[in-house]
Amino acid sequence: MRSHYCGALSEAHIDQDVTLCGWVNRRRDHGGVIFVDLRDREGITQLVFNPEYSQESFNQANQVRSEYVLRVKGRVQRRPEGTENPDLATGQIEVWGQNIEVLNISETPPFPIDEKLEVGEDIRLRYRYLDLRRPESFQRLRLRSAITRQLRQFLDSQGFLDIDTPILTKSTPEGARDFLVPSRTHPGQFFALPQSPQLFKQLLMVAGVDRYYQIARCFRDEDLRADRQPEFTQLDIETSFLHEDGLMNLMEEMIRDLFTTVLGVDLQTPFTRMPYAEAISHFGVDKPDLRIPLKLVEAGDLMKTVEFKVFAEPAKNDQGRVAVLRLPRGNKLSRKEIDDYTQFVAIHGAKGLAYIKVINLSQGRAGLQSPILKFLPNEVIDAILERTDAKEGDILFFGADKAAIVNESLGALRVKLGHDHGLVESGWRPLWVIDFPMFEWDDKENRWSALHHPFTAPKEEDLALLAQNPAVCRSRAYDLVLNGSEVGGGSMRIFQPQVQQQVFSLLGIKQEEAQDKFGFLLDALKYGCPPHGGIAFGVDRLVMLMTGSTSIREVIAFPKTQTASCLLTGAPGSVAGSQLQELGIKSSPSTSK
Ligand code: AMO
Ligand code: AMP
Repeated sequence: MRSHYCGALSEAHIDQDVTLCGWVNRRRDHGGVIFVDLRDREGITQLVFNPEYSQESFNQANQVRSEYVLRVKGRVQRRPEGTENPDLATGQIEVWGQNIEVLNISETPPFPIDEKLEVGEDIRLRYRYLDLRRPESFQRLRLRSAITRQLRQFLDSQGFLDIDTPILTKSTPEGARDFLVPSRTHPGQFFALPQSPQLFKQLLMVAGVDRYYQIARCFRDEDLRADRQPEFTQLDIETSFLHEDGLMNLMEEMIRDLFTTVLGVDLQTPFTRMPYAEAISHFGVDKPDLRIPLKLVEAGDLMKTVEFKVFAEPAKNDQGRVAVLRLPRGNKLSRKEIDDYTQFVAIHGAKGLAYIKVINLSQGRAGLQSPILKFLPNEVIDAILERTDAKEGDILFFGADKAAIVNESLGALRVKLGHDHGLVESGWRPLWVIDFPMFEWDDKENRWSALHHPFTAPKEEDLALLAQNPAVCRSRAYDLVLNGSEVGGGSMRIFQPQVQQQVFSLLGIKQEEAQDKFGFLLDALKYGCPPHGGIAFGVDRLVMLMTGSTSIREVIAFPKTQTASCLLTGAPGSVAGSQLQELGIKSSPSTSK
């Protein structure tokens, strides 16, 4: 139907007859001449309709409205001098329209497509097909496609096979709730949608596939945030006979190749590797944003004997922590700003936010300003100033509580201060976090739970700790963190049945239950399972970062809202009683909350 994309025309086409198809971006009447900006996915071309040239097409052009779908024949001309548009790729030329065919009309869209107007997300999602006509929305999908294409190309070149795994399956324990699908043929029984292809990719290694990948849809019924969706996409990878170093190196190469080809960005390799314990100690979180040059500093050892109970108690307690965060040039913060930060850390469970302002370093105590100064002896103050490398004009913030609360609150404060005070460095800071603990204690359930998933192998040298002291047993897991976002995670897997049994029993999964839930995997481990391991990248998160978006909803064609509904289709919705009957299901919506 067409000879060129609207956005593909340039001076090279001058004097050529072309046929374009697209949407009316804007129509302007300029005293007897009508201008129509015609848009397709590649860009915009200005059409000119002049009655002197063709009265009929001029009359037709007069009738068209925004978002009408046109097919236009015309000749490419250089724009008259002074009317060029440097902001438009096709801004040097225009097409003199000779013939218009209105392929379809359009109602007035609920929001303008042609302006960079802020439009509420709800209305954009309700009319997502119109939202995607906006160039900035569409470009994100285009970049997503370029990203997955490049990832596939790299993996293909490295001998990985693309293999699908089932969607209707059994539960995969990745720590979220399952989405369940009732079985009609087995009344009262359910499929679970996969939280990841974890078990199948391990089975593929037992099958001898050696190198597998899949761009896989995963389903997790969990609380949603800006970087979480109930269904999302992983680049899922598994390899045999490759240690973690080999795998991480290969993945670095893949990510490096991706950034070079798609963004033209040269990532420095090798990526930094940081043990989990160091990440927590310095940044309070296991996914530190290394672009922010602020660090938590330990102060517990200094506070054990101070008068101030708020500090002394957690300092003396094994589970407690006292830490300091220095904000350079922070002493200009007002009382109100400090109160706001105190409220901010309170959201993360902190009971307060003690601080010391460093007004004048040479005056000792007299040069400091703080509500807690009176509780701290000189030598403690000196040690803190030295340890934090405090400079005149700085402010020191303190967190004292259970370690988990201090880590979470000061970790979040670190990021907030970084953003509020313009300290976030530009560029990309990829980071491998390694040496994760195998387990974390679940206070609610009163038992150990797997930090990664229950198929993660313990470190060889920590194997004995499984029985002796699970709390300090480290795993062969690794996460890839990019600018403070966890973009991927994986591990070497357990491949000996007895170790898998031991881990299950530590997690309180009884033999019978293990057999019932994962019997097929345990069986497979008995038939010559190779040493294997892998990783999965969150494709949506990766694309979000690479497109500079603030939410993964922006990079998913048809995303769900924060409350896991689709504004476009209205899903989830009710179904006919007869459908439920067929499935042997009774629904009681009032109790479903
Ligand atoms: P994990 O649970 O860490 O590992 O998931 C891997 C990556 O998937 C992304 N991700 C999500 N993205 C959007 N919405 C969500 N709800 C969501 N949940 C996770 C994250 C995360 O790093 N089977 C293991 C991988 C392995 O061991 O090989 C797994 O699924 O970017
Ligand atoms: P108070 O004695 O409760 O008035 O607290 C004195 C200072 O310590 C105030 O600045 C509080 O914000 C701060 N503070 C109280 N509890 C904590 C805590 N758990 N961690 C850090 N600072 C705290």
